Amino acid sequence: MSLPFRIDPTLVNALRGANFVTALTGAGISAESGIATFRDASEGLWARFDPRELATPSAFARNPKRVWDWYAWRRERVAEAQPNAGHLALAALERRAREFVLVTQNVYGLHQRAGSRNVVELHGNIARVKCSRDGTLVERWEANEDEVPRCPDCGAFLRPDVVWFDEMLAEDALAAADKAARRCDVLLVVGTSAEVYPAAALPDSARASGAVVVEVNPNATALSAAADHVLRGAAGVVLPALLSSLD
Ligand code: APR
Repeated sequence: MSLPFRIDPTLVNALRGANFVTALTGAGISAESGIATFRDASEGLWARFDPRELATPSAFARNPKRVWDWYAWRRERVAEAQPNAGHLALAALERRAREFVLVTQNVYGLHQRAGSRNVVELHGNIARVKCSRDGTLVERWEANEDEVPRCPDCGAFLRPDVVWFDEMLAEDALAAADKAARRCDVLLVVGTSAEVYPAAALPDSARASGAVVVEVNPNATALSAAADHVLRGAAGVVLPALLSSLD
């Protein structure tokens, strides 16, 4: 069901005249690739799993195998998924824009598979695995049904290279995201509930720097009231329409 959304001509002009466009994406842009979001009550990932039991350092310390297996399961789901029309539209927008940065909270690498090049992964990427002791990335590991693979150098458990609750984001990623928010003329906020900081602060930074802020989401969020334009629809429908409106 496609919701009624209208692309205001002032938004089209703002995008056409933009020297710098930034997109901030959340789990919602992968929904049409068949990957569940986190907080959508019906089928969200958190509906079936308790994040405190899976995506925190203490959960990993308590039960590393359960956490490792959950991410292995999610890696399999992602491998089966394909980028959708929303991912592809953002990659096409990047090719049209004078300058374009895609800041994502997602950890699945679907933007890169869709052709996006300038991607800032705020919360890491589950395809990457690192030593849980010193964070060294590890290219290969022995998959083992019975126990969590260990770092070949120090023997500590391996873990996914993602940012868990209670963990700090990588400073370089956060700095790049904040710079992209402050320099852009238009910020497209796509498929995020805008509840998790510091990502949720980026639209404020963009607006404070004079950017036009656009929300693309079938549902209202904490950001909706402050957005200059709200395109109430699915990313896979709205973003291609937004791209076409520029022709
Ligand atoms: N197109 C666009 N948006 C959609 C679609 C769609 N087809 N389907 C759902 N959405 C919207 C939902 O309305 C919701 O606002 O996507 C948003 C998903 O919100 P969350 O599930 O909270 O995901 P996200 O905002 O990315 O969560 C932020 O929190 O759980 C942590 O680290 C995790 O990166 C994640 C962060």
